[in-house]
Amino acid sequence: LDVSLIRSELLAWYDRHARSLAWRAPPGVEARTDPYRVWLSEVMLQQTTTPHATPYFQSFTARWPTVSDLAGAEDGEVMAAWAGLGYYARARNLLACARAVAGEHGGVFPDTEAGLLALPGVGAYTAAAVAAIAFDRPANVVDGNVERVMARLFAVETPVPAARPALRRLAGLFVTDERPGDWAQALMDLGATVCRPKSPLCGQCPAADQCLGLASGAPERFPVKLKK
Ligand code: ADE
Repeated sequence: LDVSLIRSELLAWYDRHARSLAWRAPPGVEARTDPYRVWLSEVMLQQTTTPHATPYFQSFTARWPTVSDLAGAEDGEVMAAWAGLGYYARARNLLACARAVAGEHGGVFPDTEAGLLALPGVGAYTAAAVAAIAFDRPANVVDGNVERVMARLFAVETPVPAARPALRRLAGLFVTDERPGDWAQALMDLGATVCRPKSPLCGQCPAADQCLGLASGAPERFPVKLKK
């Protein structure tokens, strides 16, 4: 596969089709989005879908406009505001992280993947996503959407979960210093709207001409799952 061709086709597609989401800067915009908003949205989105997360994101940012405001909230207030998003451990991690940024970093998020990863409650995915989207760092941002896109592009026959490390390596081939934040979000949008789990819209895919999964005649088969 021609990695750099796929990159340019997908970035051009993103310039035209990027979803307008509450926490996003428009594609190609130099001034990146506030890391607090990117971090908050990514934590919420590990929990739920974009449409479900959006009103929570709006109410959190209206009530606590900065990470230091959130750090100053009472535990109970944040838990109550989180109700409906589920999985309270995430809300606890959210507060622990906000308090570390406010207390130990003067209210300023670290601007590297390693710095972000050192924050309490921040895992590999969140650190990579915030580094790429908020700071335009060339981080390899891999979620379920990205795994599916890679499994299809390369027609990976190894079943998940065993294939995960290989899918991550494949995703890493596409990460460069050029527009890494837009690249991460382009892959997420492609996975959510075109390269969907069921009934992918290959007719609309900017990488269709390169996709080995589509060439195989059954793109939906990827990622292959172990039969129970
Ligand atoms: N899912 C998780 N993070 C996302 C983002 N930044 N944009 C779109 N979908 C996402």
